Amino acid sequence: MLIAHTIAELRHHLAGFSDHSFVPTMGNLHEGHLALVRQAKPLADVTVASIFVNRLQFLPHEDFDTYPRTWDSDCAKLQAAGCDILFAPSEQDLYPEPQTFKVQPPPELADILEGHFRPGFFVGVCTVVMKLFACVQPAAAVFGKKDYQQLMMIRRMVQQFALPIEIVAGETCRADDGLALSSRNGYLSPAERLEAVQLSKALQGMAAAVRAGETDIAKLETQAMAALSARGWKPDYLTVRRQSDLQTPTLGAPLVVLGAAKLGSTRLIDNLEV
Ligand code: PAJ
Repeated sequence: MLIAHTIAELRHHLAGFSDHSFVPTMGNLHEGHLALVRQAKPLADVTVASIFVNRLQFLPHEDFDTYPRTWDSDCAKLQAAGCDILFAPSEQDLYPEPQTFKVQPPPELADILEGHFRPGFFVGVCTVVMKLFACVQPAAAVFGKKDYQQLMMIRRMVQQFALPIEIVAGETCRADDGLALSSRNGYLSPAERLEAVQLSKALQGMAAAVRAGETDIAKLETQAMAALSARGWKPDYLTVRRQSDLQTPTLGAPLVVLGAAKLGSTRLIDNLEV
């Protein structure tokens, strides 16, 4: 696996390959990330992963400084997964001057759910992904359904800017008990780790109720939030939305159940297509 720290090194390594597939990450890699790399392999003749902890998508009180940085094990895992080129720019390399041009996603997508609780988050995500796309120039890029709203945002951005990039979705990888893998799971104490699966259990319960014909979505959401709160969680949202645009359900539309909640000081998110 070749490693590029600067945009110039990356372009040098990419020269000669006709099409590139791409998996952007913030590192601290787990099986979910690696599955995306394996999914990206057959999509092009060279596969690039990036590791960049993007300051622009963290709020001032969030975990930018403490976000786990595990360079050596990340490299070993990417190599084993068949990644050809790792792009790992420093902040100075990717943002040599303050990034004052930004991608501003539309409020109906960017200010709901994650964007409501993390204002500015999707400006940071879209801006860095746009910049990474400009660096890697992929024909295809793979994003996890674990971050459902992010995946939708990137799809819309690519569509609206007519970027010639195929956006491919990867299924959510879970631990044996059902907890969605996440770099932030490492923050959980052993007791919290045992409890953490309750978020996906709550989403499963809501999805089952919807499948069984429950139409009082507001009641379902309130009950699910109350049940998690009673176990000591601080839920931001547990909600049923349309898959197509994450707006409130309409008759016959494919649905997705999404949730975000804090367990102790760790904020977890998950979702389940109904
Ligand atoms: P990060 O959280 O590192 O995730 C990188 C990619 O891995 C994203 O597409 C995410 O959806 C996917 N992923 C994370 N956990 C997963 C799981 N359990 N199963 C399947 N896929 C999973 O998402 C980001 O980084 C950043 O916002 C980024 C897009 C890199 C921009 O900075």
